[in-house]
Amino acid sequence: MIKSDYLIIGSGVAGLSLALKASKSGRVSLVTKRKIFDSATEKAQGGVACVIDKSDSFESHVHDTIISGAGLCNKKMVERLVVEGPERIKELIALGVEFTKKTCSDLEFDLGLEGGHTKRRILHSGDITGNEIEKVLIKNIKKYKNITVYEDRTAIDLVLGNNRICRGAYFFNNKSDDIEIFEAKVTVLACGGAGKSYLYTSNPDVATGDGIAMAYRAGADIANMEFMQFHPTCLYNSEAKSFLISEAVRGEGGILRLKNSEPFMKKYHPQKELAPRDIVARAIDSELKIRGENFVYLDITAKSRDFLVKRFPNIYAKCLEYGIDIAKDMIPVIPAAHFFCGGVAIDENGRTSIKNLYAAGETACSGVHGANRLASNSLLEGIVYAERVYRDSLQFLKKEYSQINVKSLRNNKPLINDTVFVPEWEEIRRLTWNYLGISRSNERLLQAQKRINILKSEIENYFKKSPFSVDRIELRNIAFITEMIVRCAMHRKESRGLHFNTDYPFMLPNAKDTVINMK
Ligand code: SIN
Repeated sequence: MIKSDYLIIGSGVAGLSLALKASKSGRVSLVTKRKIFDSATEKAQGGVACVIDKSDSFESHVHDTIISGAGLCNKKMVERLVVEGPERIKELIALGVEFTKKTCSDLEFDLGLEGGHTKRRILHSGDITGNEIEKVLIKNIKKYKNITVYEDRTAIDLVLGNNRICRGAYFFNNKSDDIEIFEAKVTVLACGGAGKSYLYTSNPDVATGDGIAMAYRAGADIANMEFMQFHPTCLYNSEAKSFLISEAVRGEGGILRLKNSEPFMKKYHPQKELAPRDIVARAIDSELKIRGENFVYLDITAKSRDFLVKRFPNIYAKCLEYGIDIAKDMIPVIPAAHFFCGGVAIDENGRTSIKNLYAAGETACSGVHGANRLASNSLLEGIVYAERVYRDSLQFLKKEYSQINVKSLRNNKPLINDTVFVPEWEEIRRLTWNYLGISRSNERLLQAQKRINILKSEIENYFKKSPFSVDRIELRNIAFITEMIVRCAMHRKESRGLHFNTDYPFMLPNAKDTVINMK
């Protein structure tokens, strides 16, 4: 049993920021599934939306967030997110994060523009913003003795004590095959989203919804799982595994074109390429379906090579690796699963419906994204909620807790052959892509429900009687995630934001969150 005050599961922006804060008040175990750097944050290109410029205002950022959220944002939560943003950004800068400045200015930031924003307000570090933030946070984490980082541990399930208080979690040690129990006064799920439950995704391999699935199995309320956000522009190339072409490219004038070069976004929205993300992804999906084509083009050739190399060094270099010179060639792109707007339901301080259990970042559903997240609001959410969780959690550190009786998980014999689940893994990811994708229907939801119920019960039965492995734990989690998406999607009898059902192509007057649990 490894004991500490805080157990933080996940090493993206929310987990790392919180660990730094929490280390001022207690001992922190930061546990992560692969290496500390492996997270969706590290892949984030665009940046952090924040009101910095004098011509911008909190009202405008709140307004854009709420419009993007298609009537389902919690206005109070959005206001807090936006108003607390600048202070949290100052903290990141004080830790050493370098955001790109305007040419010839040491003082003014070069603010980017992305879909759904009516102002330039995206702080960025070139086109590798998440990488810069992650790098700086990790460097700082290493300075604190109060933080112990445990890599290569896959969370299995939460430990619930008397009165269903969360007391920690069970982990599988990926290297030794041992089962380890981490006990803590405060447990925080900050383990990102579940893009890997879809066949095509911008997410890293670690994004298998572990935090959401564990919370669900422990009986926590889960909200809005029907709202998977598809990023409109992932590079279409069989070798370029999930490479994103940042929305900032459209912010700088990138135009979406059909294979015959015709632009098409004006048919769909007055903001054209800079319409909210759900609208752009649906427009591409619909053009591809009408034409039976596999991709559309993103054209940024109107910009000079010098500009592109400076503003998008990573995208420029990566595309060149695949033979695309973005200064003269159009980039083939398709939408891919990118961000879960739903997750573990939390209150304004990150508390879940289980005592002593918090969630933050993509794992959580905080009410700030509604039915469609505004671009570059997610890193912001991570830093704002890290502070909120920290402040609220202090009260739990002073309390005394009784000894916990943990059940000992079964003996974990090493596996000889773990390929047995490959067909199920592929089947689930195809099922979500084909039946729970950008456009849904009642019939397809019903088919998805029948299939996932069978698959999930087979996987769960087998899981209970066989040794643990990372693949099995992840497969079990994506099966639970898919079940939750189906449940939430069937519950919503309308089309809103990221959830489009051809049988209900309208919005109902009273927008409500979809809340489910396993109780
Ligand atoms: C991007 O750079 O397009 C991603 C930004 C985001 O998902 O908010």
